[in-house]
Amino acid sequence: MKILGIETSCDETGAAIIEGTDKTQPVTLLSNVLATSLAKHAETGGIIPEIAAREQVKYILPVIDQALEEGLGYKKTHRKKPDIDAIAVTYGPGLIGSLLVGVETVKTLSLLWNVPVIPANHLYGHIYANWIQTIHNSQLTINFPAVALVVSGGHTDLVYIEKHGSLKVIGGTRDDAAGEAFDKIGRLLGLSYPAGPTISRLALQGNAKAFQLPRPMWDSKDFDFSFSGLKTAVLNLIKKNGWEFGGHVILNPGSIGGTEVKNLKDPSVRPQDDKLLADLCASVQKAIVDVIVFKTFNAAREYTAQSLLLGGGVAANAALREAFAKEAAELGIPLYIPPANLCTDNGAMIAAAGFYNDTQAEWNAITADPELYY
Ligand code: KG4
Ligand code: ZN
Repeated sequence: MKILGIETSCDETGAAIIEGTDKTQPVTLLSNVLATSLAKHAETGGIIPEIAAREQVKYILPVIDQALEEGLGYKKTHRKKPDIDAIAVTYGPGLIGSLLVGVETVKTLSLLWNVPVIPANHLYGHIYANWIQTIHNSQLTINFPAVALVVSGGHTDLVYIEKHGSLKVIGGTRDDAAGEAFDKIGRLLGLSYPAGPTISRLALQGNAKAFQLPRPMWDSKDFDFSFSGLKTAVLNLIKKNGWEFGGHVILNPGSIGGTEVKNLKDPSVRPQDDKLLADLCASVQKAIVDVIVFKTFNAAREYTAQSLLLGGGVAANAALREAFAKEAAELGIPLYIPPANLCTDNGAMIAAAGFYNDTQAEWNAITADPELYY
């Protein structure tokens, strides 16, 4: 079965083709195309929904065209139905304007080509990115029951998976998500949006023990998280010491989504601040990673998970991946983390979620749902 997967829930426009035969086996990736409006949001400190939606409109058809051509050799001049069996599309959660672009496009294609639509939950997508075969996991077999951690810009969820399609939330954040914590703390440190990757890069030069930051909800017996206190702790530290950070540091100009981005580093940032910034980044990252690792392995033990799965943008974080790998080896539990480009939003994970949770629907039965949960 070949599935075209479409993702447009936020600022990424993704289209991909996967092929799968058996739900006990991983799916193969035939193409995976992504466009992003991230550079447009870098300077405004966050995503402006209206702009994200307009950019989705610009990218959606070229991205689908390219995915069909790269995956199936399909030329748009054919104008006939490509060799696909279904189209999976993210119908939530996400920004309504962005979601609608994908959902309405897919409804039109479904009607035109007479192929069924599989409405896919974006959060399932982050989890199901683990079932995509890559050069690193050709012998992939994921055993149930599994515990999955979705760590993204909007979610920090612990999920118990009994089998395909049977997912139960066992914990989540009570306030900010982990990615949101990275982004908001980054803002306090004068870093541009999204700050997660920048903090992770700066942290490489820093001392994670330089600042004692809280590990929120460490002692709670549940599997919930809270990250807003960490943000307040960093803010208090900044105020107490009278530190000032220059605005919107973009460390690698030119590299965001392949678009030229100016380095806006404020010249008033003094050289000695670089060390301070790196130490703060390392300490913040360690606080977030410590709590996530501790709670996730507690959940894996309590639920006697046969596999542990990570997904979502924050799972691209190198320190987090390393900490999970170390702990998983000690506990002897198989750990699955998608490659970094499949952790952040993409169309392949939506196609995979569609393959393993195949609830096909007629085009006119699909509606975007920004608040969708599990
Ligand atoms: O999954 P994703 O692409 O979009 C959502 O569904 O939210 O995740 C985006 C989030 C942002 O908060 C971003 O700062 C964070 O993932 N992120 C990272 C890293 N790469 C992306 N956070 C920490 N370290 C990274 N390397
Ligand atoms: Zn996401």
